[in-house]
Amino acid sequence: MGSFFSTQSDEDVAKAAYGYVPKHNIIMSESQIEEAVAYLAEIINDDYDESENLVLVCVLKGAVQFMTDLSRQIEVPHEHRYITAQSYLGTESTGEVAVAYNEPLNVAGKDVIIVDDIIDTGLTLKTLVEKIKSEENPASVKCCTLLDKPSRRRHNIEADYVGKSIDDVFVFGYGLDVNENYRHLPYIAVMADSSSEESTSSDE
Ligand code: IMP
Ligand code: MG
Repeated sequence: MGSFFSTQSDEDVAKAAYGYVPKHNIIMSESQIEEAVAYLAEIINDDYDESENLVLVCVLKGAVQFMTDLSRQIEVPHEHRYITAQSYLGTESTGEVAVAYNEPLNVAGKDVIIVDDIIDTGLTLKTLVEKIKSEENPASVKCCTLLDKPSRRRHNIEADYVGKSIDDVFVFGYGLDVNENYRHLPYIAVMADSSSEESTSSDE
């Protein structure tokens, strides 16, 4: 990707503050994430101005940080739901998405926004949209993702709200993991020598 602005000092700061992380480049800093979240919240505030039934559905685990920050900037009163979607077992895609609820979604008649960290092949969001529409009878369903990898799309779905489009690189931080690691980093990064083929994720 041509847009890296990371310097060695970014990494030094990260190591000091967050422990050892292999050499990496930041592709979205904390302030850039804040800007993207504010941008998305502004559009959502506008679009749902009239809604009295807004519900944000967080796709666990990757979207936790994003959903929390986004929710605090959405001025329209809204509820939270949490859903777990897993499309990989270990490092292998099953081609199916296992969906689990910690409680019934209970969104009949509600305006649902599914909030996920990233849209990649589109399988997760397509599955969730179809499932929620067919099983829950919501008033509406839209999708919001912080990141989008359009070049990886294999399924016919687009997110309605996207913070930033990125190239086909495997990213981590701010909720996104590499085998469950690095979710805690406050920025989004790529391994310095990473490519999407080499990296794996727990994919939750
Ligand atoms: P899908 O291919 O659009 O279904 O994406 C499935 C899931 O894979 C996303 O919700 C993320 O949790 C995960 N994922 C996709 N790309 C990345 C990445 O670059 N880093 C970490 N997780 C990713
Ligand atoms: Mg996910």
